[in-house]
Amino acid sequence: MTSIATEQAGEMLISKTERTESQVVRDIEHGETVGEPLMEDAKMSVRNTDVFYGDKQAIFGVDLDIGKNQVIAMIGPSGCGKSTFLRCLNRMNDTVEGCRVSGELTLDGSDIYSKKMDVVALRARIGMVFQKPNPFPKSIYDNVAYGPRLHGLASRRGELDEIVENSLRRASLWDEVKDRLHSPGTGLSGGQQQRLCIARAIAVSPEVILMDEPCSALDPIATARIEELIAELRENYTIAIVTHSMQQAARVSQRTAYFHLGHLVEVNDTEKVFTSPEHELTEAYITGRFG
Ligand SMILES: Nc1ncnc2c1ncn2[C@@H]1O[C@H](COP(=O)(O)OP(=O)(O)OP(=O)(O)O)[C@@H](O)[C@H]1O
Ligand SMILES: [Mg+2]
Repeated sequence: MTSIATEQAGEMLISKTERTESQVVRDIEHGETVGEPLMEDAKMSVRNTDVFYGDKQAIFGVDLDIGKNQVIAMIGPSGCGKSTFLRCLNRMNDTVEGCRVSGELTLDGSDIYSKKMDVVALRARIGMVFQKPNPFPKSIYDNVAYGPRLHGLASRRGELDEIVENSLRRASLWDEVKDRLHSPGTGLSGGQQQRLCIARAIAVSPEVILMDEPCSALDPIATARIEELIAELRENYTIAIVTHSMQQAARVSQRTAYFHLGHLVEVNDTEKVFTSPEHELTEAYITGRFG
């Protein structure tokens, strides 16, 4: 390339970046979500959802369907509302002081914010795994048995043993812990603790699993185990995962949702989002121009 051509290319890049930055607010305040946020036979549906912390709005008018037996990845710059949105899905925001959620959110067509909804039962149907593994200060066995006991899922000790073993097997942790089920869960490595938390989440047979950056505290080997596990779990569960790793989103999910400043900018098949994003903001984020 001649130096003039190089300069021109450089200028085009700069003006594109500037246009992107200056259009951000106008774009997303007036724009609809691009791509395909809605789908047939959704497991969960979110319509017209706003979230406020006190006076401050964190989520703006989100419409999104979450498909059955699929993994949907939520990506976007820090502070864009991914965790806030995820917590709407199992009413975890109820526990956050000053947080208000409005809109229609359903699980299999039932309103999860209905006054009649039993929130403890709801959270058994929609389990959650957090960024930092948070086993209870109990034995490995009791961590996994906690939910089934709380919800009365086993009538005999043998039945409970079976649930614990199956959950640990499905979380691919059984072989590593079967000889020390009564040692503290907190004595496991970080990656093992995260698999224990996944075993604890699946022990109550949830229908949906929400994961908020489940691998961010893990090394690449432990991360690869969790990603394999997500691929297996998808056969039986619906999964929504927040991640800062675009490689991870590309590896584990079938759909990807891009959030920006509390707005849902784009939802599409994962492959499309990463190869030919429709929205300029999505493109800017996945190519590393901001975020
Ligand atoms: N408990 C809270 N009280 C007040 N504001 C909050 C609270 N939690 C989050 N926020 C604000 O809501 C917005 C969205 O935050 P959220 O944690 O959902 O973002 P995020 O996309 O998950 O970010 P990160 O990638 O850093 O985890 C931010 O402006 C944040 O400061
Ligand atoms: Mg977050």
